[in-house]
Amino acid sequence: MVVSLELYFNLASLALKEIENGLSARLALKKISSRYSITNTKLRSKVHALVIETIRRLNYIDWVTNISLEGTSISQLPPYIRSILRLSVYQLKFLSTQPSQFFSALIGLIAKKFGRKDAGFVKAILYEIEKRDTTYYFTRLSEYEKIGLQLFHPTWFVRYLFRIMGRSEALKVMRKNNSQPTQYIRVNTLKVHPEMLQRKLAKEKTIVTIDPELFDVLHIKKMKRPLIHSPYYKNGFFYIQNKASALVTHILNPKENDVVLDVCAAPGGKTTHIGQFMKNEGEIVALDSSSKRMYELIETSQRQSINIIQPLLADSRSISFASKKQFDKVLVDAPCSSTGAFWSRPSRKWSVNRRLIKWLSQIQWSLLERAASLVRSKGILVYSTCSLTLEENEMIIERFLKLNSDFKLTEATPFIGIHGFRGLNLCQRLFPHINNTDGVFIAKLIRRSREE
Ligand SMILES: C[S@@+](CC[C@H](N)C(=O)[O-])C[C@H]1O[C@@H](n2cnc3c(N)ncnc32)[C@H](O)[C@@H]1O
Repeated sequence: MVVSLELYFNLASLALKEIENGLSARLALKKISSRYSITNTKLRSKVHALVIETIRRLNYIDWVTNISLEGTSISQLPPYIRSILRLSVYQLKFLSTQPSQFFSALIGLIAKKFGRKDAGFVKAILYEIEKRDTTYYFTRLSEYEKIGLQLFHPTWFVRYLFRIMGRSEALKVMRKNNSQPTQYIRVNTLKVHPEMLQRKLAKEKTIVTIDPELFDVLHIKKMKRPLIHSPYYKNGFFYIQNKASALVTHILNPKENDVVLDVCAAPGGKTTHIGQFMKNEGEIVALDSSSKRMYELIETSQRQSINIIQPLLADSRSISFASKKQFDKVLVDAPCSSTGAFWSRPSRKWSVNRRLIKWLSQIQWSLLERAASLVRSKGILVYSTCSLTLEENEMIIERFLKLNSDFKLTEATPFIGIHGFRGLNLCQRLFPHINNTDGVFIAKLIRRSREE
């Protein structure tokens, strides 16, 4: 099938617009593909790559565009034109595509949708961007702003990371965030042995290696088509999950017949992994406040044939159970800024700020406090986020330990990352540039027995 540049651009700009409205890249693409009945997986992958790589560099793209727009800003343009411009600037600045080739496809597309006047406007801006020297504007920026533009991260984040990690490590994190993320899957060992799955996937031309640290995690080295189209995915033999996320369940280490509470469970990556560790014996109460994500959890658990999960739509900050039910193990995989997942989810870079982090830390605190009250004596409480900030991680745990003397930290094993910051050596942090995973924080706490 020969795909026209026009169709390719149209799909990408519509997806970009959906992402601007808050959808994840995966869902935006799914929505647009189903609206236009696009079944060609090659085209979908190509559009996905274009959208993701444009979003990864959004601050730089908007900065050069704004210089050429003189007096107005890209944020004031109509959404579709804005998306088209962003995709074009990405092509122009980062790809070797012949400008004339895509300019004409693009101009044709805009002319069809909006008329010749808008097409002329976009064309003029693109020619201006192509020839404009931005050096003068760049020299007027602060050091943080310059690094932010060169490494495609928000200025506040550059400043923040320099402060908590030091310049050299911070730069490594940001450089890593600009590379192609490693893809992982977690094997459903209730259905298949990791080596067996490795062989089965090889027959589909998906080449994987077994992770040397977590026995049920596989690295994707090469694949012919998107993993969700594999019959092994559809039959629940594996789940697409980052290694750092899988580590959380290894640390919680639930056993057969445990009674487990997962207070932020949807879409169910960790809940189903917990069920797998429990060999489908025992009880998992899975709470989440999002009905949409809860449907995904139900679907995920059915696909993986994990049938000990009781999904419950609830605000976990105020949950209570009849007869003062208590749990052997409780997981708080809290909603967070995702600052550790900028590598795999670059759109998050542009929606997070310091105010949001403060707001999230209040929710995280309430979730942890409530969850802790539901842990039985000698029970385990695990707190995790995919955030890099201190406010969402170490500072929450410090405050928690200060106010809850019946809990103490215990070593988060398997220990494959680095120690927590601020002296919290029993906590564990993983980083993209060190561990080749999303950045996560994990704290494991144990409730003291009454005699202790
Ligand atoms: C990091 S995600 C959880 C991911 C999940 N553990 C997994 O591994 O698939 C955080 C979840 O917390 C949920 N959430 C946010 N606030 C909540 C609240 N007050 N009560 C319950 N769930 C909440 C969100 O809907 C989101 O699904």
